[in-house]
Amino acid sequence: MTRPRILEVEGISKRFGGVQAVSTLSFHMEEGEILGLLGPNGAGKTTAFNMIAGAIRTDTGAIRFRGENIAGRRPWDICRMGIARTFQLSKPFGGLSVVENVMVGAFVRTASGHEARAEAEKVVDFLGLGPRAATDAEDLTAFDRRKLELGRALATRPRLLLMDEVVAGATPTEAQEMVALVRRVRDLGITILIVEHVMKVIMGLSDRVIVLDYGKLIADGPPREVVNQPDVLKAYFGERYAQAHT
Ligand SMILES: Nc1ncnc2c1ncn2[C@@H]1O[C@H](COP(=O)(O)OP(=O)(O)OP(=O)(O)O)[C@@H](O)[C@H]1O
Ligand SMILES: [Mg+2]
Repeated sequence: MTRPRILEVEGISKRFGGVQAVSTLSFHMEEGEILGLLGPNGAGKTTAFNMIAGAIRTDTGAIRFRGENIAGRRPWDICRMGIARTFQLSKPFGGLSVVENVMVGAFVRTASGHEARAEAEKVVDFLGLGPRAATDAEDLTAFDRRKLELGRALATRPRLLLMDEVVAGATPTEAQEMVALVRRVRDLGITILIVEHVMKVIMGLSDRVIVLDYGKLIADGPPREVVNQPDVLKAYFGERYAQAHT
C-alpha cells in the first residue's frame, strides 16, 4: 500500500550567478518515510533544502506540501505549516540555557512562555539532554549542540523534518546514538529528509535515497540498489572507480 505523499517537489531550480546549483529537480516523499539525500560536495543538497524550507526562493517549479504549493512562502509560514529544518552548522543562542534555546522553537506553536517551557522540557528529555537543561548552550559539546539543534526543530512540532549533516564531526559512538535518535523521531510519526555524507548512517537509516550531482537528480530508489549504480559511483568516486566496480 502506498502512503499519502507529504511532499512533491516538481522541477525546482536555483542559479547563483554562473552556477546552476539545482536544476529542474523533482522527487516526492511519502508520509512516515526517511529519505536520504546524497551527492558529492557542491551537488546542491543544501540549496534544495533551503528552497523547501523557504530560506531561498526557487527560480522555477513547485513544492507541494500536503497538497499546497509552498514555493515562495516565507520560512516562518512554512515552519508553521509543519516543516522544520536543522542547519549544517549549528549555532545555539549563547547566554540562553538548553531549555531556553529549545523554547525558541516552541514559540512557533504558542505565545505562552509557560507552554513553550513545558514543551521544551519534554523535547529536552526526549533527546537525553535533561541533565544539561539549565546549562548555557554555548558550553555544550559539539555533539550535544547537534542534539539541541534537533530539539529546536522538534519543538516546532513538524510533520516533515529536514536534517542537514547531523553526524558531521561526530565519533562513531555518537553517530550511532544519533541514528537511534533519528529512528525515534520517525517513530513519533515525523517524515524525515536527511542529508548525510556518512554512508553507514544513510544506509542504516534511509527507506529510499535520491542522489544529486551538479544540481541534477541522477538516482532514486532503495539505498543498496542506488549506491551500486555506475553513475552514482562515478559521481562520488570518479570514472575509473565506477568502471572497476561495475
Ligand atoms: N549563496 C550562494 N551563492 C553563490 N553560490 C552558492 C550559494 N549557495 C550555494 N552555492 C553554490 O551552489 C552549489 C551547490 O551548493 P550546496 O551548498 O547546495 O551544495 P551541497 O550539496 O550542500 O554541498 P556540501 O556537501 O559541501 O554541503 C555550489 O557550487 C555552491 O558553491
Ligand atoms: Mg550542504
